[in-house]
Amino acid sequence: MDDYERFKRNILARTGIDLFMYKEEQMKRRLTSLKNKYQAATFDEFFRMMESDPEIMKACLDRMTINVSEFFRNRQRWHVLEDDILPALLSGRSGRFKVWSAACSSGEEAYSLAIVLSRHLPAGGYDILATDLDEKVLAAAERGVYGETSLKELTEAERSRYFYKEADGFRIKPEYRAPIRFKKHNLLADPFESGFDLIVCRNVLIYFTDEAKAALYHKFSNALRPGGVLFVGSTEQIFNPGEYGLESIATFFYRKAVTTGDGHASVPDRPARSSSSGQRVPTV
Ligand SMILES: C[S@@+](CC[C@H](N)C(=O)[O-])C[C@H]1O[C@@H](n2cnc3c(N)ncnc32)[C@H](O)[C@@H]1O
Repeated sequence: MDDYERFKRNILARTGIDLFMYKEEQMKRRLTSLKNKYQAATFDEFFRMMESDPEIMKACLDRMTINVSEFFRNRQRWHVLEDDILPALLSGRSGRFKVWSAACSSGEEAYSLAIVLSRHLPAGGYDILATDLDEKVLAAAERGVYGETSLKELTEAERSRYFYKEADGFRIKPEYRAPIRFKKHNLLADPFESGFDLIVCRNVLIYFTDEAKAALYHKFSNALRPGGVLFVGSTEQIFNPGEYGLESIATFFYRKAVTTGDGHASVPDRPARSSSSGQRVPTV
């Protein structure tokens, strides 16, 4: 077994992070540059350094989890969610609307969902589970204070409508915090909750191997209620959605088939075509 293989095993045993399921080339490059920064000659030596120095362990965890996020990332997709997907999901539906922001990083995605849902449902009409592997980003998410980079998609009007301006940034208003439950969760190891109307999992699947992705698509499909929708990132198209009981309803949106009484999968009506395929002024 080579040096890096041993390192992956050690990391799995020590942290529960399974680097065997992340694309090798990119991850190895990121970790090699960190190993070199600490002047470790081998990954074995690097792991020993991490074991004796929590700061190095922390730096390594940071390097493995890529935490970049922002409010309404790829805004045009959020317009499709709000204008087309959500009305179809909500039509004729009763009960609490259940959403999961999987790999939510520092919370921008979960709060974007809370903002969108507040425009369509009464307070208390929806729950958002927001999970990530990394406790550090979850603590930032719980705090809910953001700088310019996270808010670059938002207009001045939106900033003052959804945030309080404070000395160290913009604090999300409590009504958008209330429906969210932040929780530590490893997509590659922990059990999934179920019965979701909408699962948003964006900009993390790209880091996983094809095998890990396929296993996750099955698990997301099982976690959706029939007719529920999976919203993925803008480089994360699923090429064979039917294999997972999903069908593409718009670019980067996949709906779980509804099984009919005779055991056949039926395809629910498509949502109306987007009227917002071009750039448009954000709604406040
Ligand atoms: C690039 S961020 C994406 C954040 C947000 N979804 C977005 O699109 O802006 C990727 C996140 O995936 C998380 N992550 C990586 N591996 C994970 C795993 N196995 N389980 C859960 N979260 C994971 C990282 O900690 C990081 O916060």
